[in-house]
Amino acid sequence: MDAAEIRRDFPLLSEGGDREPPIYFDNACQTLRPRCVIDAVSEYYESTPACAGRSSHRLATEVSLKCDDVRAEAASFFGAADPAEIAFLKNATEGLNTVIFGSGLAKGDEVVTTDYEHNSVHVPLLRAAEVYGIRRRIVRSSSDGTFDLEAFEEALSDSTRLVAMCLTSNVTGYTLPAREIVEMAHSRGAQVLFDAAQTAPSMHIDVGSLDVDYLVVSAHKMLGPSGLGIMYAKNESSHRLAPLIYGGHGVTGATLDSFELLPPPERFEAGLQNYSGIIGTGAAIRYLDRIGLDAVAEHEVALNRRMTRALRGIDGIRILSPADPNLRGGILSFNIKEMVPHDVAMILDNSRNIMVRSGMHCCHSLFESRRIDGAVRASMYIYNTAGEVDEFIQAMEDISQKF
Ligand SMILES: Cc1ncc(COP(=O)(O)O)c(C=O)c1O
Repeated sequence: MDAAEIRRDFPLLSEGGDREPPIYFDNACQTLRPRCVIDAVSEYYESTPACAGRSSHRLATEVSLKCDDVRAEAASFFGAADPAEIAFLKNATEGLNTVIFGSGLAKGDEVVTTDYEHNSVHVPLLRAAEVYGIRRRIVRSSSDGTFDLEAFEEALSDSTRLVAMCLTSNVTGYTLPAREIVEMAHSRGAQVLFDAAQTAPSMHIDVGSLDVDYLVVSAHKMLGPSGLGIMYAKNESSHRLAPLIYGGHGVTGATLDSFELLPPPERFEAGLQNYSGIIGTGAAIRYLDRIGLDAVAEHEVALNRRMTRALRGIDGIRILSPADPNLRGGILSFNIKEMVPHDVAMILDNSRNIMVRSGMHCCHSLFESRRIDGAVRASMYIYNTAGEVDEFIQAMEDISQKF
């Protein structure tokens, strides 16, 4: 994979524009978008700015067909047997809420989760505990920051209905042993929901061979337009899954007293949809497919190894475990001396045009369990280069010396 060549596809990174190209290390929040995605979004507005699945004129039919194509492409990208198992939502949060509130959890049911969930899993589960009386069983991470399979086995019980977990942590970059988790959960009769928002951009996920029941991703973290999430729900489960949102297009019909839901995936897509976002997501999937996810993962880890090795030698830097960069994909979170993470991020931006994320990363429970007040997160992707990593290292050396 040639990052220098890839950079040419990203308008924000091209030299000679209005803005000096930043060193963009905030990819775990949103990635940048290649020209083909931007063009696909614009083309929708320029050529077919109509509504899919309702009106019967030609423009609407074209949009419907394009959205169907993207559904089929997304199904193939994630290894789903049937495009009907793929629903387009507004983000990963909506998909996670759909499963947590729609899968029929009831009083006394147990949901097994981890101590480092994004709030998009953690908060809906707390709410489900309030509303339905479910019990949460939390698997504490091992001291080295990895998943504790023995603790997981102990957390499973005959009351476990759902295992809801972050497949790849947005703070540490660590990816769970997914296959073992699915097998162990299924052997106890529980379903599995993976929050794969941070996995999908750089790791091949095959929902079919993994046999996971539900999986949710964000298109905007994998080169797609903002505000587009994808939910995979296995056919056997999706027909029993209640939508989170009800209204137009989600139903076959309604009388004054009743309604009947459309089959999946349309029942999860009530209201006018983000058609340009869906079409742009198709372009993003094709772009990633051309590069190949194995090459993406290899590139990220190579940059992470370089960054980790250098940061370890800088006075006052503490990297959030796991220590091994091979276990952290493109993510490196750290603290330096007693500095406030937001201050470090602002210094990097103002002095070097380096964009990182700082704070709790919507993952307060992880910081609380590790007794830390936040962290700086550098997250790298396909267009980042070894030269950018070296500039970042130099900037951190300067900060360490000055403060
Ligand atoms: C692990 C993880 N889960 C869920 C989300 C929420 O994604 P979205 O903004 O698409 O709802 C994020 C976003 O940062 C994330 O990193």
